[in-house]
Amino acid sequence: HSVAILGAPFSKGQKRRGVEHGPKAIRDAGLVERLSNLDYAVHDFGDLTFKHLEKDEHFMHVPFPRTVGRANKLLSGAVSGAVGAGHTCIMLGGDHSLAIGSVEGHAQQCPDLCLIWVDAHADINTPLTSPSGNLHGQSVAFLLKDLQDKMPEVPGFSWLKPFLSARDLVYIGLRDVDPGEQKQRPIHLSFDIDAFDPSLAPATGTPVNGGLTYREGIYLTEEIHNTGLLSVMDVVEVNPTLGATPEAIEATTSLAVDVVASALGQTREGAHIAFPNIP
Ligand code: ARG
Ligand code: MN
Ligand code: MN
Ligand code: MN
Repeated sequence: HSVAILGAPFSKGQKRRGVEHGPKAIRDAGLVERLSNLDYAVHDFGDLTFKHLEKDEHFMHVPFPRTVGRANKLLSGAVSGAVGAGHTCIMLGGDHSLAIGSVEGHAQQCPDLCLIWVDAHADINTPLTSPSGNLHGQSVAFLLKDLQDKMPEVPGFSWLKPFLSARDLVYIGLRDVDPGEQKQRPIHLSFDIDAFDPSLAPATGTPVNGGLTYREGIYLTEEIHNTGLLSVMDVVEVNPTLGATPEAIEATTSLAVDVVASALGQTREGAHIAFPNIP
């Protein structure tokens, strides 16, 4: 197996700066080494370079529509290329608006993909329903065919045609999915770190109390690994500038590494080797 790592240092899908440092923070927490230890050939493609457009007026109350649209078009091509080259792809965000391009690029190679959205939020607002205007809370609405007649034309997104059916999408509740429904379909796992309880993942922009425990989150990624069908995984909304202490930041970034490693087959009990000091 080979794994491609794509860094997407992008934050214009929401208003808090710092989430663009997510890729570096997650790499610094040891991601490549952890995956290499799992015997993957790890290809780190580095970070994409995103342009901030000078002229990018709000669309309704949505900020940076063209900047976000263009970033996602670029990311889509990169994910499509990595999947097409045969890698399992790990996309390090950045904010969750990046799932638009990540899932779209994945779908270019795997039109039958299904999407597992692990998140405190549904991110299915349209520009008309969004309380914040932020595009990271609207990613799913851009992907779904079912919402086409509810979505206005947002500048910057003319390249994107909705392609996913609501029945191809599941939110967190992995227990609700019939194994038969998912049979042989490549999985796109879009993992927002704020799905975890803020006590575990404090360094994120929109924390919500009552989140997943460590055990619940890792159980989820272990089960996804066990399907053998993980094709692309996003890890988004790690914002290393929002931790109150170095420990809070470290807790969040090492948790991000843990979920990726677990989705790629690391087990909690570790490798099954005999105890060296038992005769
Ligand atoms: N529902 C809120 C909104 O639309 C929060 C979304 C947070 N999304 C995220 N990817 N963290 O603005
Ligand atoms: Mn999200
Ligand atoms: Mn969220
Ligand atoms: Mn495997």
